[in-house]
Amino acid sequence: MEDTARNYPLEDIDRETLFHPNTSIVDHLKKGPHIIAGAQGVRLRDRQGRDLIDCGAGLWCVNIGYGRSEMAETAKRAIENLAYYHIFAGTSNEPVIRLAERVLGLFHKSGANHLSKVFFGTGGSDANDTNFKLVRYYNNLRGKPEKKKIISRTGAYHGLTYAAGSLTGIQVYHKAFDLPVPGVLHTSCPHYFRFANPGESEEAFTDRMIAEIEGIIAREGAETVAAFIAEPIMGTAGVLMPPKGYFEKLQKVLDKHDILFIADEVITGFGRTGHWFATGGMKLKPDIVTLAKGITSAYFPVSASVISDKIWKVLLEASPEFGPVMHGFTYSGHPVGAALGLTNIDIMEREGLVEQAAEVGAYLKTLLSERIGSHPYVGEVRGMGQMIAVEFVADKAARRFFDPKAGVHRIVGAKALEHGVLSRPLPFIEVTSFSPPLCMSRAEAEEAVERYGKALDAATPELAKLAGG
Ligand SMILES: Cc1ncc(COP(=O)(O)O)c(C=O)c1O
Repeated sequence: MEDTARNYPLEDIDRETLFHPNTSIVDHLKKGPHIIAGAQGVRLRDRQGRDLIDCGAGLWCVNIGYGRSEMAETAKRAIENLAYYHIFAGTSNEPVIRLAERVLGLFHKSGANHLSKVFFGTGGSDANDTNFKLVRYYNNLRGKPEKKKIISRTGAYHGLTYAAGSLTGIQVYHKAFDLPVPGVLHTSCPHYFRFANPGESEEAFTDRMIAEIEGIIAREGAETVAAFIAEPIMGTAGVLMPPKGYFEKLQKVLDKHDILFIADEVITGFGRTGHWFATGGMKLKPDIVTLAKGITSAYFPVSASVISDKIWKVLLEASPEFGPVMHGFTYSGHPVGAALGLTNIDIMEREGLVEQAAEVGAYLKTLLSERIGSHPYVGEVRGMGQMIAVEFVADKAARRFFDPKAGVHRIVGAKALEHGVLSRPLPFIEVTSFSPPLCMSRAEAEEAVERYGKALDAATPELAKLAGG
């Protein structure tokens, strides 16, 4: 850095030099940046010295919490031993072999014995791009080149690269990027609380959602539909729980039409729901599982596509004829990331963080329900494990929702920040989410809810104005 540059505030240098992801440029130039200086456990410290309880775990990812010296020691040892080597063309390294075995072992323990191989990447988006390509590859190898379309859901979030961004079902991510690409279809968002017809039971709602999917398959022709992708619990859409019987019925439809099921467990994986994976916890039978975030608790960018034996067999049989699978990245199977993944799992197992997520998550949800559940503009407090949401409504009795342009959840989120708690306003509907590190204690949950409750009280007059009538 030049000496003159040192004299400028860090905020100015940021505005002059950084192109931030998912950020409004004009707003940032007026109000940004908010600089985070450090973190420990569930707490962040910003440059103003404020103590913030991170009820986002970053972006749903720092599952073991911040500042773990054991992770720092692992990184140091791994870098000193083998800072990098690729795993192309059959090369390998011990940490990546052990991590693949360990991840599969966790799946097998939870009953998903059909999952058989792990392909590593660096982020959830590239893993879903890998899946997008794998589905095509699989059907080309088995002589079904017309079977290529993928069904996703409105409100889904699967990342923002070209294919993953197309699978994502939230319009703001498509606007002006010419997405989605052809061959990606979106079926309705299965969020009962918001999208049920008046008087419709949850079972009837599920049946309507499934009938719509069957309708899409019939319209397109099953011979053209390759896969269905779903987050077991939709995260970015607003922590949307599947309606009763949804996945059981969906699985039957997919099996009947020879359509692969991709479970995107980028958020739900590695303990967040109070189970190691939603696949086991919710008894799903995916052909491919996407993992990222919690696999290293975000201490290193690692993702994975875990594939079933059924897919592997097709790849294996075609191998002599098709030659090497020409897909992979420089950092696929990075030895340092893999070593951190192993230590991350050690910590989770030793400290019982999956069980803690179930227990403290249930407590956090109860505390939130008690403190704000009867608030006039809180429609629903829901979730599973440490994946919780507060959804806002303008009129509870009439089930009237706020004008999306009002951004009420952003108003509450901003107030929450002022009160020292980070709870994320999400981009699809009026929801703020709670997904703290899984090491959150009961006392920390109490403190977070106390702060959030005060923030909501402070935001209430503004919400009342926006609720209209
Ligand atoms: C379910 C899901 N899939 C994929 C992604 C994309 O992951 P990344 O941001 O690491 O590319 C995310 C990110 O939040 C996610 O929530």
